[in-house]
Amino acid sequence: MALIISSLLLYLLFSTTVSCTGVFFENYTSLPFDEGYTQLFGDNNLMLLRDGKTVHISLDEKSGAGFASQDLYLHGFFSASIKLPSDYAAGVVVAFYMSNGDVFEKTHDELDFEFLGNIRGREWRVQTNIYGNGSTGVGREERYSLWFDPTEDFHRYSILWSHQRIIFYIDNIPIREMVRTPAMGGDFPSKPMSLYATIWDGSNWATLGGRYKVNYKYAPFVSEFSDLVLHGCAVDPTNHLSTCNNQESDRYNSVTISYQQRLAMNDFRKKYVTYSYCYDRERYPTRTPECSVDLREAKHVYRSSGERFMDRRRHHGKRHGRGSGGE
Ligand SMILES: *[C@@H]1O[C@H](CO)[C@@H](O)[C@H](O)[C@H]1NC(C)=O
Ligand SMILES: *[C@@H]1O[C@H](CO)[C@@H](O)[C@H](O)[C@H]1NC(C)=O
Repeated sequence: MALIISSLLLYLLFSTTVSCTGVFFENYTSLPFDEGYTQLFGDNNLMLLRDGKTVHISLDEKSGAGFASQDLYLHGFFSASIKLPSDYAAGVVVAFYMSNGDVFEKTHDELDFEFLGNIRGREWRVQTNIYGNGSTGVGREERYSLWFDPTEDFHRYSILWSHQRIIFYIDNIPIREMVRTPAMGGDFPSKPMSLYATIWDGSNWATLGGRYKVNYKYAPFVSEFSDLVLHGCAVDPTNHLSTCNNQESDRYNSVTISYQQRLAMNDFRKKYVTYSYCYDRERYPTRTPECSVDLREAKHVYRSSGERFMDRRRHHGKRHGRGSGGE
């Protein structure tokens, strides 16, 4: 009962905040697939639907699938409505992320939403991560449970990236903010990135540290993307010069989290964060400079589970390679 009431309160809180967050983003129209994106791999495992604005990517025995933005962007707002594969999905990973790993192999930047499938009866989990200038030695990941079933309906996942901050949103609720601090240095992503969406076999990593593999009896695993929003400073791929004027850059820089939104974010974080590198004292005996500690949040994270130390193995950079699922 308490759970129901608190879910309801959360819902009410969130639904009242959505309208205030809309101001900046709602004007951004979604792009038809062909105008903004291009298929990366997966042949027929990528399928366009209806108006060309909805795309299915799927994983089967042969392959996963993925697409990327045609342009590179330096800062902007990037968003998609995503519905995850239903039923048994252990080992399946759906990723919605920005990266420039193809351009800067050793010093790449990355901003991730990763969805980790699970065994039946246990929920999908969501992970966010941030890398800057090849900082792969420092994982800044967080994991969350959700207040809804992400396989039942579309939900909006968004990334705001400006010179000053990074904000991850779910359904317009900010769930994570990283403000740039001088001490972060190059760890704050600062080079143009492309936007990617992929589905792949994360058998050796995704579910309880690889304990549960993808079971292809349940294939194909289909993830649906729609309302794709790309709104950033596109950059010339050859000389990396931005076409944005200052006014446009200022628009991204001016995005902050309102008081109402911050309440919603705090509420989300003290209920749904299940892991944060900021609280992992074993891994980071000294906290990284951007971490600040919220005691209520910390309490929840510590209580959350023994999964804390199980999913840590990194699976870096293989996510949009061609070829079979087991990469
Ligand atoms: C959104 O669109 C309306 C109508 O075109 C416009 O007046 C307003 O300035 C826009 N808002 C932003 C933040 O761009
Ligand atoms: C990024 O890394 C490269 C290679 O380690 C280094 O030369 C460069 O100064 C770094 N850039 C920033 C902004 O820290």
